[in-house]
Amino acid sequence: MSSVNGKNSSPMLARTIDEVRQQISLWKQAGDKIAFVPTMGNLHTGHLSLIEAANKSVSRVVVSIFVNPMQFGENEDFDKYPRTFDADMAVLEESNVDMVFMPVVTEIYPASIDSMTRVAVPQLSEMLEGEYRPGFFTGVATVVNKLFNIVQPDVAVFGEKDYQQLLVIQQMVCDLTMPIEIQSVATQREADGLAMSSRNAYLGADDRILATAIHRSLKHLVEAIVAGENPTFEVGHACQELDEKGFLVDYIVVRRQQDLAVPEQGDKSLIVLAAARLGSVRLIDNLLFQLID
Ligand code: PAF
Repeated sequence: MSSVNGKNSSPMLARTIDEVRQQISLWKQAGDKIAFVPTMGNLHTGHLSLIEAANKSVSRVVVSIFVNPMQFGENEDFDKYPRTFDADMAVLEESNVDMVFMPVVTEIYPASIDSMTRVAVPQLSEMLEGEYRPGFFTGVATVVNKLFNIVQPDVAVFGEKDYQQLLVIQQMVCDLTMPIEIQSVATQREADGLAMSSRNAYLGADDRILATAIHRSLKHLVEAIVAGENPTFEVGHACQELDEKGFLVDYIVVRRQQDLAVPEQGDKSLIVLAAARLGSVRLIDNLLFQLID
């Protein structure tokens, strides 16, 4: 067994809430700070960048792997979502992680999901992704809230790839006065620009090549807006480009970074967000940018 930065490289595997609580309480008694990276598994370089950030800030890192049924719609991919637990554990063995929490569904939802308490972050949850995936962010906020209550982290780390999710979690933590610092990490991309995502594995070979067009379109869109072109015209152009390539575009929008509201005169910190489908695979991406005077 090797040791990285003084840590044992094999993480403890916890399956129950009690196991997590007992270990966290020992760590806290010893004065350790806890950083938490919630995931649904099928770990890729994007997740590793979150774990790396977690390791920079505190002494103990906890990763959860839980495919959360509450955040999947009836016609979504809960059943076929890639579950690669053995490969994930192999990756985590090498990632300087102290604990992996991998509960079964009934550990998190001991009663029927429909009967259980939910955490809703209004307004922010209803736009963009929320419009196309009703109930999604309530499912995310609820499970993250439960995981926070179990792990009681000082810091939790989320990726900017799911930017709206990041804001929903930030608002939940603020509104519910949770003593947790939320850190964000920039989107990790494949060499050809495609944002890393577990769902990229669903893409066939041809669609995998086509999928890179989303990032290219967003890059051109940002360049055009920064150069002073008309955002509405440029968004229309980007939609048309993707449409012609065979995408079904759900949305491409320019919003404010802080709250995803439509930008007003003088707003400088902006983000373009896109969601588009290639066959049955739905891809999302975004780019943060600044307008300069
Ligand atoms: O981003 C994800 O993987 C999930 O939405 C999360 C935050 C782990 C909640 O299930």
